Amino acid sequence: MLKNQFNLKNKNILVLGGFGLIGFETVQGMLHLGANVLILDKIFDKKKFNKLKIEFKKKISYKKFDLSKNNIKKFNKILANSTVYVNCSYPKTSDWNHNSFSRITDNVLKNSLNDNLVPSITTAIAFAEYLKKNKKSGSIIQLGSIYGLVGQNPNVYKKTKILENNSYTLIKSGLSHFSKQMCSYYSKDKIRINTVCPGGIKSKKDKNQSKKFIKNYSSIVPIGRLAEPNEIASCIIFLSMDASSYITGSSLIVDGGWTSI
Ligand SMILES: NC(=O)c1ccc[n+]([C@@H]2O[C@H](COP(=O)([O-])OP(=O)(O)OC[C@H]3O[C@@H](n4cnc5c(N)ncnc54)[C@H](O)[C@@H]3O)[C@@H](O)[C@H]2O)c1
Repeated sequence: MLKNQFNLKNKNILVLGGFGLIGFETVQGMLHLGANVLILDKIFDKKKFNKLKIEFKKKISYKKFDLSKNNIKKFNKILANSTVYVNCSYPKTSDWNHNSFSRITDNVLKNSLNDNLVPSITTAIAFAEYLKKNKKSGSIIQLGSIYGLVGQNPNVYKKTKILENNSYTLIKSGLSHFSKQMCSYYSKDKIRINTVCPGGIKSKKDKNQSKKFIKNYSSIVPIGRLAEPNEIASCIIFLSMDASSYITGSSLIVDGGWTSI
């Protein structure tokens, strides 16, 4: 019985932000486990897409979708037969770098919440309502962060160019908490909703990850290093499977012990 629960055979899955660092790792893992994956993203990464298309053919597809436009009508049209919705997108406003205590204004805050938190929540509700209406069980997975659970640690940013980001903490705590609110209403419809809360993840493309930042981060986190993207994707995949059927409303912390000390 357990064997049957640890696969995604023919599950139809939407991965928003599927061309990103965590999203693409998740998409690849899901395809290998038998899922049909529709990537939603505001960009199209031809190289990544073609790499998977050759191997997985009709099991992978793409639709352009910009979460920040909060176009629920368009989202509802895309849903066709999906039972899992993963939100790995990372919308950032043009004033995203104005989010420190010394720079933040009410417009910066409003823009960040409007472009990220609000549509992340409204698409999750739309997905839950669609499952409920069609009497389907399903799973919704949001991407939170350790910084939605605890305050940001200024020691990580010492001697780097990175500043604290206040909207980020609000968005991520909002997602974790709203998953609990949705859990309390949608569990009776066999719909699960969870938030995966990663710590810092190693990325070659992230210009903020200077040697100093990596050293600071590694000296604080108990496990002594940043996460690899696949260490986050594996948890998202687990929450997509029937193997996690008793987990809902949780904030699954994947942080190498960051929030334990
Ligand atoms: N990378 C980390 O260290 C880390 C740590 C903790 C939490 N997270 C969270 O995990 C999630 C994914 O992070 P990531 O590192 O993979 O990000 P990423 O920037 O690598 O990827 C994000 C993806 O979302 C897409 N996207 C951006 N704005 C969009 C929009 N408006 N509509 C649709 N798609 C959009 C991008 O095109 C990209 O493909 C984010 O929510 C992030 O906050 C990341």
